[in-house]
Amino acid sequence: MSSRRRTLLKVIVLGDSGVGKTSLMNQYVHKKFSQQYKATIGADFVTKELQIEDRLVTLQIWDTAGQERFQSLGVAFYRGADCCILVYDVNVRKSFDTLDNWHEEFLNQASPTDPKTFPFILLGNKVDIDGGNSRVVSEKKAREWCASKGNIPYFETSAKEDYNVDAAFLCVAKLALAND
Ligand code: GTP
Ligand code: MG
Repeated sequence: MSSRRRTLLKVIVLGDSGVGKTSLMNQYVHKKFSQQYKATIGADFVTKELQIEDRLVTLQIWDTAGQERFQSLGVAFYRGADCCILVYDVNVRKSFDTLDNWHEEFLNQASPTDPKTFPFILLGNKVDIDGGNSRVVSEKKAREWCASKGNIPYFETSAKEDYNVDAAFLCVAKLALAND
């Protein structure tokens, strides 16, 4: 028998509208970036295969709508998730302040077996803007928030410049695999 084992992992991306959820996924999966903003409606997924040790992992990454009028996913959507990616924009204070809500919303909807150990990851996106001069949330603040939620891993990213995108999703895959 082959030692290569296939695993399908469900990952859900949450965060305010415009923080760059779709852009991060497009950069990761298609190596493409568009300046144009097109709001996500409902939810859709992309897949990406990667090899982690003896496992052939298929990441099924679900993109969601940050805009409130498009949010109506329901419990069934969240069920069976192996990891949740939270995204905020380091240049938009409100997108950081709403992280508590997204975190809670996920736990309420997905109701994982052990909410305390369920794997989340936080991405602080758009660090490229203005060379970092327009950022309003410091890395320290973000890391404090992560620590307060049980040591959530944190990455600063730029979907535009493809900065830390692969590293962040590799971390997601490993977290999801460990939780599978
Ligand atoms: P919703 O679908 O409404 O929830 O938004 P979203 O989180 O999917 O945001 P989206 O990826 O559509 O990006 C919003 C806007 O920000 C677009 O105009 C992107 O081009 C831009 N953007 C996304 N990521 C980055 C980044 O890392 N740097 C810069 N400069 N712009 C970005
Ligand atoms: Mg989107």
